[in-house]
Amino acid sequence: MALDSVPLGRTGLRVSEVAFGTWRFGRENDEGDVEVGRERAHALLDAYADAGGRFIDTADMYGAGRAERYIGEWLAERDREDFVVASKIYWPTRDDPNGRGLNRKHLRHNVDEILERLGTDYVDLLYVHRWDDETPAREFMRTLDGFVRDGKVNYLGASTFEPNAWKVAKANEIARREGYEPFTVAQPRYNAVNREIEGNYLDMCRDYDVGVVPWSPLAGGFLTGKYTRGEEPPEGTRGATDQQFVDSYLTPENFDALEEIEAVARDVGATPAQVSLAWLTHHDQVVAPITGARTPEQLRENLDAADIELTTEQFQRIADAK
Ligand SMILES: NC(=O)c1ccc[n+]([C@@H]2O[C@H](COP(=O)([O-])OP(=O)(O)OC[C@H]3O[C@@H](n4cnc5c(N)ncnc54)[C@H](OP(=O)(O)O)[C@@H]3O)[C@@H](O)[C@H]2O)c1
Repeated sequence: MALDSVPLGRTGLRVSEVAFGTWRFGRENDEGDVEVGRERAHALLDAYADAGGRFIDTADMYGAGRAERYIGEWLAERDREDFVVASKIYWPTRDDPNGRGLNRKHLRHNVDEILERLGTDYVDLLYVHRWDDETPAREFMRTLDGFVRDGKVNYLGASTFEPNAWKVAKANEIARREGYEPFTVAQPRYNAVNREIEGNYLDMCRDYDVGVVPWSPLAGGFLTGKYTRGEEPPEGTRGATDQQFVDSYLTPENFDALEEIEAVARDVGATPAQVSLAWLTHHDQVVAPITGARTPEQLRENLDAADIELTTEQFQRIADAK
């Protein structure tokens, strides 16, 4: 299997049809253990690149900067030009009243830190990780436009504004009026059991030519089928350590939807994880789901989703499951 490239929405850039997410890189759990350390991070990036993967998703706050450092060390051994790297800014990264959000001081400080940690002159795609109610949209759109003009950033994205489609629309209207670079990519949560963005938000994305790069495409692992109705989550899984995950995902309605996905998976001879990812890659507004695999074995299974063809009827069965 080799991943194909697809257009990043209406931009001229091409990216891999499945992106690789690095949220767990360098992240400390409640016991203070690092979930994915440097060695495993590099093994995961190797497995992704070996499959032809070129679209890496990170953020300034993942692993308190460690994720970007691990990626930077790995990129230093490769041709940086072969990869499309996306990062994000918003969450607090310094103990300072200005060390958060989308104010100009924080954006300028953090974009330089991102470049330093990644060891690169530019990021291909910079997302605002969340909307900032305290900073006027005109202030941050102008600052972000400056990054594009300076060559520090190539494209802009908006992460997790859903369900508030109006925020992206407002920012892009300011960009249109002022001649600033608009958001051309959105990164919302979207998977077969989280359908919040359908309707208003996806309509906005279509109208504004905003490509969709979904996070949690496997509902944090629920859609792999490794959780069983009425049973304790298996040891070592996200469900075993994260009560919020249990409350939001391990619900009777989700298990009903999963049964339909498992039936489609049997029909196409694939795993529920692969079919769930294929459902997203078949969606006409989705650019590339961001897989968050934690081990190289999980990652290889997920990337094989690129070989799966769903019929219109199979796509619709999953769409109707929830
Ligand atoms: N913009 C944002 O606000 C935002 C928010 C969240 C995530 N993201 C991005 O999206 C990426 C993906 O998010 P996510 O981690 O929630 O995605 P996900 O793919 O829905 O969930 C990943 C989890 O699913 C399990 N898993 C994946 N493949 C598996 C397989 N083949 N077999 C068994 N279990 C498997 C693993 O769980 P276990 O740990 O239980 O093994 C893994 O940690 C992140 O890395 C990050 O880059 C962005």
